[in-house]
This record gives sequence, structure tokens and C-alpha cells, in this order.
Amino acid sequence: MAQLSDTWTITIANQGSGRFSVDAQRPLLDTLEEHGVDLPYGCRYGGCITCAAKLTAGAVDQAEQVALNNRQIANGYVVLCVARPTSDCTLEVGVDSHDKLYRNPFLDPLEPHELKPDIATPIGES
Ligand code: FES
Repeated sequence: MAQLSDTWTITIANQGSGRFSVDAQRPLLDTLEEHGVDLPYGCRYGGCITCAAKLTAGAVDQAEQVALNNRQIANGYVVLCVARPTSDCTLEVGVDSHDKLYRNPFLDPLEPHELKPDIATPIGES
């Protein structure tokens, strides 16, 4: 049975590092900002990818996000404005963590399995 917790410990592995106790019910962007972590952001609703960070350990719930494709998720990316921790986590944050976030679509196009699930399968097929 999964452990339930009100708080989780978030370790920032880059940008000077740090460990912070955060509310499990709130987006990581909000709680880390309250701890003084300087993070990039744009829309704050999971649509623009600006706040993407690389999750190197742990797990989050980011079901609300619409910005990331499956390749980016497989490379560990989470969008902090909607991601809520479901365990202790280690993150690399900011543009320093974006080395695998963007790919040239002409040189390295997405394969069907790397698309978002809702657009990877034509309507009527499942
Ligand atoms: S700020 Fe736009 S996806 Fe997080």
C-alpha cells in the first residue's frame, strides 16, 4: 500500500542545491518559491513548459499538465506549476536542466510512441 504523507522532502541538486519540506497537496512551483528557490515560469497552468525541471529521483502527480510529450516525460521532465510530489524527490531546476527538453523536430522527429497519448492514437482506434 502506498505511503500517504502531508509533506515530502524535495532536494534541489543543482543551482546551489538545497533540501525543502513541501506540502504534498500543492504545486511544487508554489511551495519551492515560498522557500526562496528562484524558478522560471510562464503560464502557471501546465501549458507552456517554461517551468520544466528534471526529476532524477522520486515521483510526482502531474496529470494536469498538457505541455510535455512522452519523450520529455521519459527523459524525466516535470512541470513544476502543476506537479505535486507523491514521494521525496530530487530535482534539477531551471534552464540548466533543459539539456534534453528540446529537440530539433526535423533532425530527430518524434516517433508515434513519443507523442502525447491523446494524439498518438486516431479517434476510433484504441
Ligand atoms: S509555467 Fe507554464 S507549464 Fe509551468
